[in-house]
Amino acid sequence: MRIAVVGSGYVGLVAGACLAEIGHDVILVDNNQAKYLALVSGECPIHEQYLPDLLDKHRGRRLIFSNKLAQAAAACDAVIIAVGTPPASHGEADLSYVESVAREIASSIDRYKVVIGKSTVPVYTSDWVRRVLLLNGVREDLVDVVSNPEFLREGTAVTDFLYPDRIVIGANTPRACSVLEEIYRPLVDGSYYEREDRFRFPLSEFRLAKLITTTAKSAELIKYASNAFLAMKISFINAVATICDFVGADIDEVREGIGSDERIGYKFLNPGIGYGGSCFPKDLSAYHAVARECGYDFRLLEEVVEINNQQRERFLRKVQKALWTLNGKRLGVLGLSFKGGTDDVRESPAVTIIASLVQKGATVCVYDPAAASRGREVLSSDRIRYAKSIYEAAEGADALLILTDWDEFRHADYSLVRDLLKYPIIIDGRNLLSPEKMRALSIMYFSMGRPDVRPLHMADPTASRTEVSQEPIYGTYQPAMEPESDDSALVE
Ligand code: UDX
Repeated sequence: MRIAVVGSGYVGLVAGACLAEIGHDVILVDNNQAKYLALVSGECPIHEQYLPDLLDKHRGRRLIFSNKLAQAAAACDAVIIAVGTPPASHGEADLSYVESVAREIASSIDRYKVVIGKSTVPVYTSDWVRRVLLLNGVREDLVDVVSNPEFLREGTAVTDFLYPDRIVIGANTPRACSVLEEIYRPLVDGSYYEREDRFRFPLSEFRLAKLITTTAKSAELIKYASNAFLAMKISFINAVATICDFVGADIDEVREGIGSDERIGYKFLNPGIGYGGSCFPKDLSAYHAVARECGYDFRLLEEVVEINNQQRERFLRKVQKALWTLNGKRLGVLGLSFKGGTDDVRESPAVTIIASLVQKGATVCVYDPAAASRGREVLSSDRIRYAKSIYEAAEGADALLILTDWDEFRHADYSLVRDLLKYPIIIDGRNLLSPEKMRALSIMYFSMGRPDVRPLHMADPTASRTEVSQEPIYGTYQPAMEPESDDSALVE
């Protein structure tokens, strides 16, 4: 099938490359001249595992690039809209890019075509797109508008597309539904996985995707509800981790006890500094706006967002609890992206936390395997230095902070890190490291919802009287934590 994909962001680029991979002829359209030229010249503008390989495999063959939308739409049987839907003033999705694509392709629809919405959009968007097409002269019988939400995660987007757990087709007519079924047939009947040249999933076992056909409205809701539910799971476990901190329980044990209930499961139950990224924060506020417009006050979503915001504060308090004052401290930081495996720093909790640390007077030396250049665009201060390795970030630092869950951080040489640090202190916002291992390495280790690892004689001076009464007071820690200036007495 000939398919035009409009928008070469994360979703459009991955969908375009993967649709070419499963056998379609794809024209990827972007009106941003710089992006278009970069793609034509062989660049891969985002850090996404396996995407450069797929682009190289299909570029100039089954995948071509264009900056002429109407022309591309005219040449294709289906047009996928994958443009941005950024938040507008009250949290609702700004659909002006979607609308302008619909206006621009209308003149190209002179035979039956399916227009497919892949951008995350509120209910009724398919109806609106159809209306715009008809208002701009498209004959009613020549177009169907379908919602086909995408569930790609950054960092694993290619495997998510080619080995999906489900494919949702929200079509209001059988004709449109059959076009979408034809597009995804190689994944649903498994013929793609029999091909010798297929992209090989790193795991050996997988199940064929479940095809779910719904109305367009239901499909639009499925996307928002899925993201809101996942965000809710994360906020839930973060709230439980906070209680663990208060009562001295261990979130790893609690998580195991909860997650082993098959009805709950372990996935998306990892506590940390909260979710970020281009989807959850934006989609939650858009979903809340959708509910508000219907007259329903979906307060649960507000609470999910509130808990998420509090996580950053909680982490900062942990840093202060471990280091006392921040003014003049030099901190090594691991991670800038909103999660491991991507260079995306949008709504990254790491970025907010680094900005707060600098604002409190600390200097930061940060290392991220992929996100440094994007980080520089949003975090500029002469008190932030970008390191080229974990060890450079750690060297001479008063403490090391872990803010993103990159595998590279998990597998670093922490005895070397300990020797490079000025003081052997690690504050792990992602629970990446094992407290036992840190104890064995004599590293003071603080994480989220797990008991602190610290030598007995370095009890927490802010803990309750009964808790510390057995231990020497903070003063015994003088050699490592001597205040550096008078300012440092100003604990917030
Ligand atoms: C998400 C959805 O998972 C995906 O289906 C949708 O298409 C787009 O939005 P993505 O934003 O790429 O994908 O990231 P995801 O892996 O979902 O993680 C989102 C955030 O939650 C990250 O900041 C991550 O670090 C955090 N997270 C995730 C946790 O804090 N704990 C968890 O257990 C899981």
